[in-house]
Amino acid sequence: MTDDSPSQHPSPRAFSASVPLKGRIAIPGDKSISHRALMLSALAVGTSRVTGLLEGHDVLATAAAMRAMGASIERTGDGEWEIDGVGVGGLLQPREAVDMGNSGTSTRLLMGLVASHPITVTFTGDASLSGRPMGRVIDPLSQMGADITASPGGLLPLMVRGLAPAIPLAYRLPMASAQVKSAVLLAGLNTPGITEVIEPVPTRDHSERMLRGFGADLTVETDADGTRHIRLRGEAELRPQTITVPGDPSSAAFFIVAALVVPGSDVVIANVGLNPTRAGLVEVLQAMGGSIELQNAREVGGEPVADLRVRHSNLKGIAVDPAIAPSMIDEYPILFVAAALAEGRTVTTGLDELRVKESDRLAVMAAGLAAIGARVEESADGLVIDGSGGDPLPGGAMVAGHLDHRICMSFAIAGLVSKAPVEIDDMAPVATSFPNFEALLGGLQS
Ligand code: S3P
Repeated sequence: MTDDSPSQHPSPRAFSASVPLKGRIAIPGDKSISHRALMLSALAVGTSRVTGLLEGHDVLATAAAMRAMGASIERTGDGEWEIDGVGVGGLLQPREAVDMGNSGTSTRLLMGLVASHPITVTFTGDASLSGRPMGRVIDPLSQMGADITASPGGLLPLMVRGLAPAIPLAYRLPMASAQVKSAVLLAGLNTPGITEVIEPVPTRDHSERMLRGFGADLTVETDADGTRHIRLRGEAELRPQTITVPGDPSSAAFFIVAALVVPGSDVVIANVGLNPTRAGLVEVLQAMGGSIELQNAREVGGEPVADLRVRHSNLKGIAVDPAIAPSMIDEYPILFVAAALAEGRTVTTGLDELRVKESDRLAVMAAGLAAIGARVEESADGLVIDGSGGDPLPGGAMVAGHLDHRICMSFAIAGLVSKAPVEIDDMAPVATSFPNFEALLGGLQS
C-alpha cells in the first residue's frame, strides 16, 4: 500500500459525461517489452535499434539506469532509439544511486542484472515504489550469491552487491510474477551453467521471447499439468537486434472499455499487442457481451498484434475465472469500471497480487467506485460489483489516484459515464505508462 503523498506537481482533473467516442487511434508501445528491449540491447555487443519504444517515465528510468551502467542510449526520433551495449558481464558501477521512480519492473529486473555483475548498486524510488515488496526478488537473487541490504520489510531503498561468477539456481516461483521470473533469468545471463525458473502458472513471456531473439540459449519445457520449466544457459553472448515494439494492450484496455461503455461509440484501436499471456481482458469483455472485433491480425516484433474495432455494448456481469488473472493482471482496475456499468453481478477472486501493485488496487478501486456511487464490495482477494445496467453512475466525487497510473485512468473513464463529473486528485502519474492518454481521448471526442 502506498502513502498518500502527491506527485511533485499534482495535476487534478475532472472527467464528465462524454459524447460518443469515434475514430481510430494508435496506442503507445508496450511497457513490458520496452523495458526488456532497452535492457537486452544494453547487454548486446554492437548497435541495436528500437522503434515504437514507450517514452513513459517508467521506461525512461530504465534507460537512465542502463546509461549509468555504461550503455550508450540515444533517442533518434519519435519512439526511435539506438543502443550500444556493453556485453553480458560488462555492466559498470554507477556513480550514484539509480532512481527507479514509480517503476517496479525497472527495479526488479535491474536487480536481477546487477546480481550477477561485480558491481554494487543502490536503488531508490518514489513513495509508491518504496512501499512495494522486494523480498520476492531478494530471495532468489541472494540464493544466486548477491548480497542485498534492503530497508526494513524488504523495501527500497536497497543496495545490491552482485557476485561474479554467480551461482546458477533452479527456482520455483512462489507467486505468479513475470518480474520475479525475469529477474532470475536476467541474473542467469551472466552466470555459468543453467539457470532454471519453474513456473506453475504462466505469466507474460516477453523475456523468454526476447532473450531468444537476442540469441540466448533458452528452452521452455511444459509438463502435463502446464508447469513451465524455463532454462537459460548463462555466460550468453547477445547479438544486437532491430526491434519493433507493439502497442500496449494494458493501455489499449482503457479505450476498449471506454468505447464499450460510452453510448454510441465506435472506435478502432490500432496495433494492439495480443500475446496470449496478456490478452485476458479482451476474452473477459467478449464473454460479458462486448463487441470487440479483431482485424488485420499479424505479427510485429515476434508478438501477435491486431487492430481492435470496439463498439458500445450492453455488458452483462460474470464470474471471472481466477485462472485468467495473470493474463490481465494490470487490467482489473478498468474491468471493475466496466463491471460497474454492466447489468447484474460481476465477481472477481484470486487477486491478492493486486494489493501489491502501484497501489492496493482492490482497496483503492473499491473506495473510489463507492465514492462515485457504484455498488461494490471488497473481499480478501477480489471485488463483487453489482452493475448499473448501463445507467450512468452518480459521479460527483473526488477520487484519490494514490500515485497509480492505472487507477487514475480507470476513474477518468468512469467519469465519461457519470452524471456529475469525477475528479481525480492527480493525473500526473499517467505519464509513467501513457503520456498521451488525455490527448487520444480528446481526439475520439471531437
Ligand atoms: C510486469 C509484470 C507484472 C505487471 C507489471 C509489468 C512485467 O508484474 O503487473 O505491470 O513487465 O514483467 P508482476 O510480475 O508483479 O505480476
